[in-house]
Amino acid sequence: MRSRPDYVEAPIRAFAVATMFWGVVGFLVGVVIASQLAFPLLNLDLEWTSFGRLRPVHTSAVIFAFGGNALIGTSLFIVQRTCRARLFGGEEMGWFIFWGYQFFIVTAALGYVLGVTQGKEYAEPEWFADLFLTVLWVIYLVAFGGTIVRREEPHIYVANWFLLAFIITVAVLHIGNNISLPLSWGSTFSYAAPAGVQGAMIQWWYGHNAVGFFLTAGFLGMMYYFIPKQADRPVYSYRLSIVHFWSIIFLYIWAGPHHLHYTALPDWAQTLGMVFSVMLWMPSWGGMINGIMTLSGAWDKLRTDPGLRFSVTAVAFYGMSTFEGPVMSIKAVNSLSHYTDWTIGHVHSGALGWNGFITFGALYWLVPVLWKKREMFSSRLIEWHFWLATLGIVLYITAMWVSGIMQGLMWRAYDELGFLQYSFVETVAAMHPYYVIRMLGGLLYLTGALLMAWNMYKTITSDEAVATLPARAVPAE
Ligand code: HEM
Ligand code: HEM
Repeated sequence: MRSRPDYVEAPIRAFAVATMFWGVVGFLVGVVIASQLAFPLLNLDLEWTSFGRLRPVHTSAVIFAFGGNALIGTSLFIVQRTCRARLFGGEEMGWFIFWGYQFFIVTAALGYVLGVTQGKEYAEPEWFADLFLTVLWVIYLVAFGGTIVRREEPHIYVANWFLLAFIITVAVLHIGNNISLPLSWGSTFSYAAPAGVQGAMIQWWYGHNAVGFFLTAGFLGMMYYFIPKQADRPVYSYRLSIVHFWSIIFLYIWAGPHHLHYTALPDWAQTLGMVFSVMLWMPSWGGMINGIMTLSGAWDKLRTDPGLRFSVTAVAFYGMSTFEGPVMSIKAVNSLSHYTDWTIGHVHSGALGWNGFITFGALYWLVPVLWKKREMFSSRLIEWHFWLATLGIVLYITAMWVSGIMQGLMWRAYDELGFLQYSFVETVAAMHPYYVIRMLGGLLYLTGALLMAWNMYKTITSDEAVATLPARAVPAE
């Protein structure tokens, strides 16, 4: 039997804790801005706590801080185990990436609250933070790629393909969308190189592929590693996973224009975005089927492993949001859904259901392995987390669907004389009950995450240590 490499784990443990920490922060700010939309008084009449400044704090905290820490941490775990090699650059490299990334998050968030932002959605940090992230990301790529190069396993497991695509494409997108010049010597503000419709196109090439490669490809890497682990079976079809990979990579990159329907963007480009989006449905569902079918013959595990329940439900939400997305990209549908809460419902079925749940499932598996405990402190708490979070998502997304479709229909309603039937403020007032329901859904989701944080803390600090790694970690090696 080959000896077990001396895997780097301490920085990965830190990434796991940071994921939970930033998750709670991000969900909390989500609940705050949801409450502000329901009760505008909660803006407190202060510029730093206004909705406009807190919204990017929320989106960045959940995507880049919660999602980013989860992705970097699990990717460094996965690449070492599946390549049977110690992390390239060792523990120092791991710690550098960890602290560098936390530094970037804090710098970006401070900027938002103080009003220092490029004003581009999901690319808000100003030039100095962007430059720092570029350097850090290249170091991350070197650590990840270097580990693959020094691997002892003959082939590169499919999870690493997805993770590598995530790392490389995010680098290209980040650099492409942030080409800008400081306003003046020493200014913290900048202006973007491309302007007008070209600027918009590049921004949504970036924005959509942040969804495609950050929120999808990266998390699919997680899916392809952790679901087989939890189910203790190989992935359902390796061939399907390769088809899934290449088709996703090829199609996603063209779909950005669906964010710019009925704008100054040339019509052919909008149609191109729509067609590629509709095509994306097939590989996305291929991936979903692959994830779910990995459980065939092991469905009973769903009864005994509440962590696995998170992962499987996540894949179901992946299927649901990748069905809804192509539908919304059809121009006729988009003319109703665009600018409405329907988009927000779509975002959160992907974000809460897919990204959130796949991360929770991975962490429930990973925490006992990383801290060498037999299992999580309480599986009852995991069950509570699961039901609270699921109920929270259902409240959130159904409220947004109803309010979004109502909003769209109210905006386009005419009376018999051809005048708009509703004033804008009437549509805003009609949203109120749904905003309250969304706020309650968010509160349930946050409460579930707090239970998880407590469960993690109790697991980490329990003295029930296992001398060797728990048995279920072994097949990874
Ligand atoms: C407790 C959980 C959450 C609550 C209560 C919440 C609430 C909100 C609210 C109120 C908005 C602003 C909507 C608007 O402008 O009309 C928003 C936007 C957004 N949230 Fe969340 N959120 C939560 C979790 C998450 C998670 C986990 C993610 C991602 C992983 C996420 C990603 C986003 C994104 C991308 C947007 C911007 C959507 C757009 O511009 O279309 N949220 N969220
Ligand atoms: C086949 C896959 C998908 C397609 C074709 C798709 C398509 C779309 C469309 C058409 C919009 C509305 C654009 C608009 O009217 O402004 C949208 C918005 C969005 N989608 Fe998806 N979607 C897909 C999957 C996902 C997944 C899995 C997530 C993960 C969380 C996601 C996150 C988002 C976000 C964050 C936005 C809001 C962007 C913004 O305006 O700020 N999508 N998507």
